[in-house]
Amino acid sequence: MSHPSQPDFWNSRYMAGQTPWEFPGVPADLQKFLKQKSKGSSAPAPSRGRVLIPGCGSAHEIRPFIDAGFEVTAIDFAPKAVELAKRHAGPVFANHVVLGDFFTHYLPAGSFDYVYERTFLCSLTPDRREAYRNRVCQLLKPGGYLVGYFYYQIPVLENGPPFGFAWGTADELFGRHFILTKDQPVTDSLPLFAGRERWQEQRRTSFTG
Ligand SMILES: C[S@@+](CC[C@H](N)C(=O)[O-])C[C@H]1O[C@@H](n2cnc3c(N)ncnc32)[C@H](O)[C@@H]1O
Repeated sequence: MSHPSQPDFWNSRYMAGQTPWEFPGVPADLQKFLKQKSKGSSAPAPSRGRVLIPGCGSAHEIRPFIDAGFEVTAIDFAPKAVELAKRHAGPVFANHVVLGDFFTHYLPAGSFDYVYERTFLCSLTPDRREAYRNRVCQLLKPGGYLVGYFYYQIPVLENGPPFGFAWGTADELFGRHFILTKDQPVTDSLPLFAGRERWQEQRRTSFTG
């Protein structure tokens, strides 16, 4: 049977239209974040920074980021997800969506101002969380931000995905590497995540390797 670490696991779900994690539209906290970042200027350029969307799925967020003036790279290893994401990006920006494995595909180190997280981290089995954190650290500029949606669950391991954090384990994972600058409950979660999701903004510290 295929495993969440394999593209087939996800690809078959996109092919079958069984994607209960997909948010129809742009979630409220992301809207607020984008509005805040675009404040003071209506022009989309110059770029407000480079954003990476790992495990982007069909990437409903790609256009809102672009429209708010960000330069976006989105990556997913499921071919059907990438096809859908390219469609959402539109012909001009389709080449900003990459088919590849977040952990191994070449992406320039220290080149992103933001990594946007939504339901990718919780799709990984917990043994891959350190690799996720290390990869995010590698790709962000010093002082860059990991922003987005983080999923908590008690007990730690029910039948995932999604695999949620037990309270406190996220601090252990990110604490030495990031400073949490925003942390608030999410009010428009999908039923799958309701009551367990938080919007967080974490700044990459420059004093850890
Ligand atoms: C639960 S879905 C979330 C999709 C999207 N972020 C969203 O919010 O709709 C998890 C996604 O991560 C992708 N994924 C899982 N492991 C990956 C990896 N190692 N590299 C790239 N994508 C991966 C899957 O193909 C799937 O599209």
